[in-house]
Parts: sequence; structure tokens; C-alpha cells
Amino acid sequence: MQTYEPILLKNMSRPGYVGSLEDYRGVGGYAMLEKVLKEMSPSDLIDIVKKSGLRGRGGAGFSTGMKWSFIPKDHTGPRYLCCNADESEPGTFKDRQLIERDPHQMLEGIGIACFAIGAHQAYIYIRGEFDLGAEIIQNAIREAYDAKLFGKDLFGTDFDIDVVLHRGAGAYICGEETALLESIEGKRGKPRTKPPFPAIHGLYQEPTVVNNVETLANLPYILKNGPEWYAGIGTQKSTGTRIFSVSGHVKRPGNYEVPLGITLREMIYEIAGGVREDKELKAIIPGGASAPFLKPEHLDARMDFESIAEVGSMLGSGGVTVMDVDTCMVWAAMNLMEFFHHESCGKCTPCREGSAWILQVLRRIEGGLGKPEDIDLLVSLCERIEGKTVCAFGEAEIGPILSTIKNFREEYETHIAEKRCPYRPDAALAIAH
Ligand SMILES: Cc1cc2nc3c(=O)[nH]c(=O)nc-3n(C[C@H](O)[C@H](O)[C@H](O)COP(=O)(O)O)c2cc1C
Repeated sequence: MQTYEPILLKNMSRPGYVGSLEDYRGVGGYAMLEKVLKEMSPSDLIDIVKKSGLRGRGGAGFSTGMKWSFIPKDHTGPRYLCCNADESEPGTFKDRQLIERDPHQMLEGIGIACFAIGAHQAYIYIRGEFDLGAEIIQNAIREAYDAKLFGKDLFGTDFDIDVVLHRGAGAYICGEETALLESIEGKRGKPRTKPPFPAIHGLYQEPTVVNNVETLANLPYILKNGPEWYAGIGTQKSTGTRIFSVSGHVKRPGNYEVPLGITLREMIYEIAGGVREDKELKAIIPGGASAPFLKPEHLDARMDFESIAEVGSMLGSGGVTVMDVDTCMVWAAMNLMEFFHHESCGKCTPCREGSAWILQVLRRIEGGLGKPEDIDLLVSLCERIEGKTVCAFGEAEIGPILSTIKNFREEYETHIAEKRCPYRPDAALAIAH
């Protein structure tokens, strides 16, 4: 495996580093915000970020520099930057670590992104359950204001940046960028139809960029070390490092920052210590609950945007969930569907109704009451959701169902033929209650 050094998780591994402003400035923090404000033009900055190849770490992997360049240059009204700290994707917990252990890194990134798009107002939308994270960010914002790193006329320039922390109320859908904007505006968090995209009509109908915490945290380092340095890490099209949250049946679960392009095998067996109790591996979710399941035959797939797509899944939010041979795949799909059904915002009928129907059929199969035609019924229900919803939640919720049917169809068939779950003897009872 290529030797590597973490970028974003580096400071917090320094002895005594607690992520205070003093700590962060002690390692050169905020020097890049000062530099861009004093010495650079927004278009130079956008070019550097484009050149670095940085792609969004929130899920879709869109080019960050490109996204910024969609903000209309001639717009005279306000523009906004929203930092997406909603992190609600099951199996993903990397933003939480960045927020709790080194918040100024993200704040400096926010300042840099504001300058790039000409925004004087930034919002951090944080997941409602992140009580500690919200407190830490609020303190960090106060420290930064006291040190005149945010506020008016920054670093002797006439550029102002204000940052506001906005707490969510516990809805997964508010991580979707347009639902997030609705929520900040005080409305119910439901996605908007796109186009228009947020870059044109975003927050309060003004041009807006929504970027993930990890995406923004990378910016000071790209500026400090140069875009060529960043582009030299990872693969040609998936540059830089990525923090993967590894969980499930591994010996050493945790957040690991690695160059994009290492193999799933390296991630699971070398970095996370292998499968718990040295059991056989059965399935891997490589990019959060929305990412289709993979099998052990995919272990040599590289963890970059393109390679994971080639084997039929996605890198998504970077949540890697590992399942051993004793895991029931019907149960795993049902478990995720419980989540998606609960979190469907209800705006689009195929998602609202379809998620309930899919869950009902999965419960029936797992509980030993499935019928042979149920497998095709599940596929048909998924097809009625795919491409028929306002946001990507629809595609997200069918991923686990279609991929478990594709990769583990025999498990569905065994449940139906044996009229029971072969892995969970009390499943029928549990589902009945
Ligand atoms: C249902 C759903 C939930 C999402 N949740 C999050 C989230 O919690 N955090 C996040 O950064 N992006 C999330 N996204 C992706 C955002 O819509 C958006 O693409 C991202 O914040 C853009 O930032 P980036 O370009 O830096 O990746 C979600 C998308 C969908 C469809």
C-alpha cells in the first residue's frame, strides 16, 4: 500500500492538541484565509481549487471549483455559503470528528470558500443530534470573532464574513442540499425541484454554494501546499485523501484518512484489522447506507469515485460497513429500509408510499411469510421509485434492496422456501411485535 500521511486528521493526533484557536494557529491556521483575502482574486482561488481536482465529500463527488464557478459573477445581491454538517447517513461519522476535534480547520475553509464566491454570510447547518459538536462550533466561532478572523474588514481588507450556526431538528433529508436551504429558511425540510440549482436560486433565492465539512476543511491545505501537491495524492480523477468511517464486523472500527484509490481489501484487512473473530466476509457497503452492497469478489476494487462506480456501487459519504458471514442480507436490507421509510419526507408519492410497501414486503420475507413472487415485487417497487423523485433519496433507498437481490438473491429464496430466517431464529416473533 502507498505510504500516506493524513491531512485533516493530522493536527488532532499531535500531543496536547485540543482544537482550540490557539492550537490551530500554532500549526499555521488561518494563514491561508489571510493570504487569499489580502493577495488573491476569487478567480485565481477558483482556478487553484479546480486544478487540485478536489471533489465534494458530501456524497455526489462533484468538482468543488466547478461548483463555485457556477455562481453568477454579475449578481449584485447577496450570495451565501452553506456548510453541510448534517451528517446523518448511517455508517458515516467523519464530519463529527472534524467538528469536535478540529473545528477551526473547517471554519478557515468556510472563510476561503466565502471569498471564492463573494459571500459575506455563511451558515453551518449541523445535525440536530450533534449537541457537543454544536457547542464546540459555537465556541470556535466566538474565538474566531474575538480574534477578528470573522466579522468586518478582515485582515485590513474591506471583506466581511459572518458565520451563523444553524441546528437541524433530526431529519436525515435536511442533509440534501435544497432541503437544507428550506430548513434554514424556517420551512419544513423538503427538497426543491432542480433546476434551478442553488448556484442560481439558493438560500432566500440568492446564489448559494453548499459544501460538506470535509470538502471545506481541505481548502487551507490545498492553498498552503499547492494544487499540484493535492492532485498528486490519490488517483488522477479522484484526488486527495478521504476520511472513511469503517464500522460493522471489523476488528478496528474508526475513521481512517487514506489517499483515494486504495483497495477495499487494504481498507478492511490492513487498516481496519480484518473481519472480527477472523470470520469470512460476506458483504460491504462502501459509501454509506445509500450505496449498493458489494461482495468479497469486489475486494480488489479501488476506493475512488470511478472504480467503485464500475463495480456497481458508489463512494457516497465514505461510510464503509462490513458484514460477516453470519449476517442476514434480508435483515440488513430491511434494517436500512426501516431507516429510509422513517426518514422519507413524504413530498414525492413514489418514495413516501413505495418505502412503506417495500418495508412491508421485506418484513414479510424476513418473518417467514414471504411468497416466491415477492422478490420480483420488490424489484418492481424499486423501479417505480427510481428516477421518479425530486431528490436522490429515491435512488438511495432502493440501492440496498436491488443490490442485495442482485448479489444475494439465494438468501431471499431460502427465506421464502424455508419460511423462516436461517440466521435469526426469532425473526418472525420480533417482526410480529
Ligand atoms: C438524502 C440525502 C442526504 C444527504 N445528506 C448529506 C449530509 O448529511 N451531508 C452532506 O455533506 N451531504 C449530504 N448530501 C449531499 C448534499 O445534497 C450535497 O450534495 C453536498 O452537501 C454538497 O457538498 P459537496 O459538494 O462538498 O459534497 C445528501 C444528499 C441526499 C440526497
